[in-house]
Amino acid sequence: MNIIKKTQDEIEKMRIAGALAADVLMMIKEHVKAGVTTEYLDNLMLDYMENTQKAKSACLGYYDYPKATCISINEVICHGIPSNKKLRNGDIVNIDVTVIKDDFHGDTSMMFIIGETSPRNQQLCKCAQESLYEAIKIVKPGVNLTEVGATIQKIADKYDFSIVRDYCGHGIGRGFHEDPQVLHYKNNVSVILEPGMTFTIEPMINAGTYKAKVSKKDGWTVTTADKLPSAQYEHTILVTDDGAEILTLRPDESIDRIIRH
Ligand code: MF3
Ligand code: CO
Ligand code: CO
Repeated sequence: MNIIKKTQDEIEKMRIAGALAADVLMMIKEHVKAGVTTEYLDNLMLDYMENTQKAKSACLGYYDYPKATCISINEVICHGIPSNKKLRNGDIVNIDVTVIKDDFHGDTSMMFIIGETSPRNQQLCKCAQESLYEAIKIVKPGVNLTEVGATIQKIADKYDFSIVRDYCGHGIGRGFHEDPQVLHYKNNVSVILEPGMTFTIEPMINAGTYKAKVSKKDGWTVTTADKLPSAQYEHTILVTDDGAEILTLRPDESIDRIIRH
């Protein structure tokens, strides 16, 4: 394993990339509604990243991924490819944005509820966000990454939801996916956190089985094996001297950007 700790200069660039990724989600909010296609949203976000932010999409062309963002509806866990499919009332939708600015990555995602959805779908989204927040709150130097997985597991268990195992969070910096892997379920993979580490936490929570399937048609779209819905939230986190800083925090969130212990 090769965990790259970031210097003060690099951290400043990560802050900028993180803020831009968060800002893409803030920008797209008002456009996410029933009747719009996911391709339309993707085009708006690509235009914003390139022409307003003077940044790049990290997804476009990544292992030949064809679009600028991932938009994952209902039973799609992650890596949904924007298409001519229209959003419908009751859908729960994850939009995942990764920008590159000045060689550094910012990676974040959130759920959008289209119109009105079922109470169980609302709980699923709440569980994904709560488990992300609780996991962030325990991050500080000396803590083992196993605690992140254990924290998310406790919350998913409380709601009686399952946690995706095939996809995980990741170190991030100049690289999109760096070491370490951040497992979102109870595990024994020991990694002691140190100041300057930057990684994502991005729990994918399922209403039914944890089992995932990759589309044979497009090679990307990941769905739940039982077609029941899935929800995800993602932030890029910095380990500070006494806690954590959320590099992709949005102004619409209630959690503090800097958590001190
Ligand atoms: N943003 C995703 C993550 O959180 C990765 C998307 S890779 C892509 O790690 F190629 F599908 F865009
Ligand atoms: Co990520
Ligand atoms: Co992401």
